[in-house]
Amino acid sequence: MDEISQSTTIELQSPIVCPIELSLVVPTFNEVDNILPLIEKVECLLDGTINWELIFVDDNSPDGTSETVRAIAQRNRHIRVVQRVGRRGLSSAVVEGILASSASVIGVMDADMQHDENILPLLWKAVAQDGFDLAVASRYADGGGMGEWNQRRQSISRGATWLATFVLKVPVSDPMSGFFVISRQAFMASLPKLSTIGFKILVDILASAPRRPSIKEVPYEFRARKFGSSKLDSAVEWEYIVLLTDKLLGRFFPIRFILFSFVGSIGVIVHLSALGVSLNLFGMRFIVAQSIAVLTAMTFNFLVNNFLTYRDRRLRGVKLLYGLFSFYVVCLIGAAANVGVGAYIYNAQWTWWLAGIAGAAVGAVWNYAVSAAFTWKK
Ligand code: GDD
Ligand code: MN
Repeated sequence: MDEISQSTTIELQSPIVCPIELSLVVPTFNEVDNILPLIEKVECLLDGTINWELIFVDDNSPDGTSETVRAIAQRNRHIRVVQRVGRRGLSSAVVEGILASSASVIGVMDADMQHDENILPLLWKAVAQDGFDLAVASRYADGGGMGEWNQRRQSISRGATWLATFVLKVPVSDPMSGFFVISRQAFMASLPKLSTIGFKILVDILASAPRRPSIKEVPYEFRARKFGSSKLDSAVEWEYIVLLTDKLLGRFFPIRFILFSFVGSIGVIVHLSALGVSLNLFGMRFIVAQSIAVLTAMTFNFLVNNFLTYRDRRLRGVKLLYGLFSFYVVCLIGAAANVGVGAYIYNAQWTWWLAGIAGAAVGAVWNYAVSAAFTWKK
């Protein structure tokens, strides 16, 4: 056996003195002032009781969060950073952090001290020693609370919690919680079906679980943020709707095709409105009015798809113009296919509405497939 493989074998056989028992994964975006306070709290809490590692997954924050964590990690073997460049998102950050971690029990929490780290040992014990698949820190369990969250945030959270009941197979009082501990086994079982869209990684994990996970809930009081500001905005709220849609329909159609078709159906209303105004208000000839309506609807569809359906690949500036032009070309060919197929089926003595639907379906699939490949190419 050559020199290198022999030493490797010996290393692997040597007993690991103290295995890591908890991998804490913390997603960060512009949290530089919270890093040290969080590390100090976790260190005081866990040192001497649970062997831990703390992995920050930072989306290349402009405030220097990654650099700050890296500087601490050079002196502290518990700390690591995964710096992601060119992609954003709380859920996808948590997934990548978990895949970069090593313990069989994984904790997820926020960086901003809003999650009460003091209940971490209880959450860890439930999974590591009591055999639960998941332990969830809940603001809605008896003894829990929303802290100083204003009425608007509380209503959004309660509304989102109610919507989650449509996709979850298991009753959880706080599925919106970003603070939980999970066994690696339970996480790996959900992994193949995760959508990793938006903020709600726990809803994603629960809705992707192949079987009903056992869950322990631990109440906690959601605290006020110490530094920085919340990243939850209307885009995150939209992504939550997309996540739920993906969980409900994603196994039948790609979620983007569902969104693209939804936008297209609103585009039909835009088309008819533009046609009606051109004909009845401006007295135009039909062919001119219909052309204006087609152009208006295509422009509407392009802009809304760029803002919603392809927000992770949103086109800006000059690329937006190129994208609009390419979308026109794609859709004009799609329109020709639509008319051609519809006419062929109508002439084959099928009913007019069936011919219309068939043409529209061909046009929609063509527009979606080709615009995904050319207009919003990855
Ligand atoms: N890597 C990465 N990328 N991290 C992010 C991103 C992102 O795009 N957006 C937010 N984060 C990090 C923040 O830096 C913070 O550590 C954590 O995710 C939560 O973000 P906040 O902006 O503080 O969210 P919140 O306080 O409004 O809501 C949080 O708590 C609720 C109750 O647990 C979130 O965790 C919600 O999902 C949760 O419902
Ligand atoms: Mn927060």
